[in-house]
Amino acid sequence: MPITILGIESSCDDTAAAIVRDGIMMSNLITNQDIHRAYGGVVPELASRAHQANIVPVINQALEEAGIGLEEVDAIAFTKGPGLLGSLLVGVSFAKGLSVSRNIPLIEVNHLQAHVLAHFIREKKGREKIMPAFPFLCLLVSGGHTQLVVVNDYLDMEVIGITTDDAAGEAFDKCAKVMGLPYPGGPMIDRMAALGDKNRFRFSKPSMAGLDFSFSGLKTNFLYFLRKKLSEDPDFIKENSNDLAASLQHTIVSILTDKIIEAVAITGIERVALAGGVSANSGLRSRLKAEAVHRGWQLFIPDIAYTTDNAAMIAITGFFKYIRNDFTGLDVVPTARYGLQS
Ligand code: KG4
Ligand code: ZN
Repeated sequence: MPITILGIESSCDDTAAAIVRDGIMMSNLITNQDIHRAYGGVVPELASRAHQANIVPVINQALEEAGIGLEEVDAIAFTKGPGLLGSLLVGVSFAKGLSVSRNIPLIEVNHLQAHVLAHFIREKKGREKIMPAFPFLCLLVSGGHTQLVVVNDYLDMEVIGITTDDAAGEAFDKCAKVMGLPYPGGPMIDRMAALGDKNRFRFSKPSMAGLDFSFSGLKTNFLYFLRKKLSEDPDFIKENSNDLAASLQHTIVSILTDKIIEAVAITGIERVALAGGVSANSGLRSRLKAEAVHRGWQLFIPDIAYTTDNAAMIAITGFFKYIRNDFTGLDVVPTARYGLQS
């Protein structure tokens, strides 16, 4: 009998549902909440209300696209955390309600673990995907998290480096906001950077010992630099936007790459993977491809669809927990701050 998992993701501003059967993605639906654009960031109260409106249609569509009925679902995997409490609450409560009404077991999923396990999602057709062997190093870079992880097994991960302030995605988004770009700024910086000169401006890189990261100094440096330039020329951003984006992206990519190189040296692990929203960044992807060739690493870069938040990653994590009989009781509660090792 195949194992069919319904995945539900509602940790931030995307309501997503997916069906994974025996590790193969059958459907992967997402509803983005455009409502936050006008506010320059995610407004938690609006996010939870939008999740309430979106969750039923998105789950129905995921089932429909997969061509299966609820009676075929063996378990409901949902994001327990980390994330916005109100947003998580919608997903957790809905999963519980569905579990009780249809008598389907529940599986709680750590959103960060799910980003890493997105590497193990297989497609229905197409070439056979090469998956990372254990142990491998994973740079998990998203809007809320930046960490270096040693992945010993599907459900055994050890954090060896973490940001002490902002996340890499936050650095992209906050600097983009200073440039007057809409939220989330990361993808836009990426597009503009492709047209700019990455060596035009130099921004500060932190001098963090060990494997930890820091991005708040760069954000402040970027802000003060722009303030100074704007006082001399009010059109400075408009006239230099692509070069600014390219130079900023180059700095963030260098900070991340330097730490991966250090982590490989320290652990001796030469299998390197990327995960999380910022792993969609084309500058980071191409830089790491070049480093991998140069240094002889085996590199694993997720498909774009599995970089930013999605429910297929929740469902695949649910699949690995299902085969280990790792189920969750109805007393489960969402957890806003929820680390990889908690
Ligand atoms: O993983 P994710 O969807 O959500 C969190 O769990 O945080 O990551 C979202 C983050 C945002 O900060 C967004 O700006 C960033 O990923 N991001 C990018 C790109 N696409 C998404 N940053 C740089 N370049 C991109 N192409
Ligand atoms: Zn995420």
